[in-house]
Amino acid sequence: AFEPRVFSGVQPTGNLHLGNYLGAITRFVSLQDEYPCVYCVVDMHAITVWQEPIELTNAIRSVAAAFIAAGIDPKKNIIFNQSQVHEHAELAWIFNCVARMGWLNRMTQFKEKAGKDRENASVGLFAYPNLMAADILAYRATHVPVGEDQKQHLELTRNIAQKFNYDFADRIAELGYGEEFFPITEPVIQGPATRVMSLRDGSKKMSKSDPSDYSRINLTDDRDQIAQKIRKAKTDPEPLPEEVKGLESRPEADNLVGIYAALANSTREAVLSDFRGAPFAKFKPALADLAVEVLAPVNAEMRRLLADPGQLDEILADGADRAAEIAAPVIDGAKDIVGF
Ligand code: ADP
Ligand code: NA
Repeated sequence: AFEPRVFSGVQPTGNLHLGNYLGAITRFVSLQDEYPCVYCVVDMHAITVWQEPIELTNAIRSVAAAFIAAGIDPKKNIIFNQSQVHEHAELAWIFNCVARMGWLNRMTQFKEKAGKDRENASVGLFAYPNLMAADILAYRATHVPVGEDQKQHLELTRNIAQKFNYDFADRIAELGYGEEFFPITEPVIQGPATRVMSLRDGSKKMSKSDPSDYSRINLTDDRDQIAQKIRKAKTDPEPLPEEVKGLESRPEADNLVGIYAALANSTREAVLSDFRGAPFAKFKPALADLAVEVLAPVNAEMRRLLADPGQLDEILADGADRAAEIAAPVIDGAKDIVGF
């Protein structure tokens, strides 16, 4: 059996939004009392599509600041920057040689991100799920909190661990590692906001790359921006239903109720019973107030942290040292198993 450990990452690309916050970062916070946790700014994933170097540097600090501002304690947990721990890249190469082309060909996110011009996508964008598997398995993480959109990539991580354990089973046993060298990681996809949708289109997830700024609430938005985006959020003309069942064919209503529930640390049931069939004209201002109440202190703390980039860099450097202490022996073991 493997010691329980949590790993997850967020890309330093563009603005962090409410989907990242509710689907991932708040989940990271809630796991820190239960497990040893490793939270990573995955900058090597970011460069699978073009990033302006200066903006990337700033975005790395921003994600680290968001982790800390949201309540992740960098002393109790490990917060670090992927590119500072070279073991990720080393293990990713081994996994490039474990994963099959056919597996990666089935990844829907590559198809979405590469779009029509697939010939011109970076090789890194295609191989990215192998690096993600390396991120997780370098720490032999047993639990990975993520949003719904990462489910398929986690399944690939499990397949890679399984194939490595199987292909090298004799060698793993011979070297005294027992039956399995890598754990079969469990995804942790929980809470009312595992898939926050765009505020403009209930069929698309809220995303950093959506060209419309009105589609998402950024962690850096101020009170007025938050209120305005929620006021303009697309809805249908019906009032809120009395029961969760009534949200089924109403994606926009379901999304706003889910966001409210996540912000209030509550459930869709409880929110609907509090609002008792209220119209959106009443629900939206309440949602905007709640979003401001929750996000304003996070925003203020992020600004305070970002005003001292030297201190953030120190936290990341300390995190990288502690991350490498865990990852180095795992990667040494993997290399030994392969025959290096
Ligand atoms: P993005 O998908 O916005 O580019 P990342 O790939 O860095 O951001 O994702 C960071 C984390 O945020 C992942 O766990 C991902 O599943 C989660 N996440 C991203 N978008 C959403 C969303 N709309 N709803 C819920 N979780 C999300
Ligand atoms: Na994502």
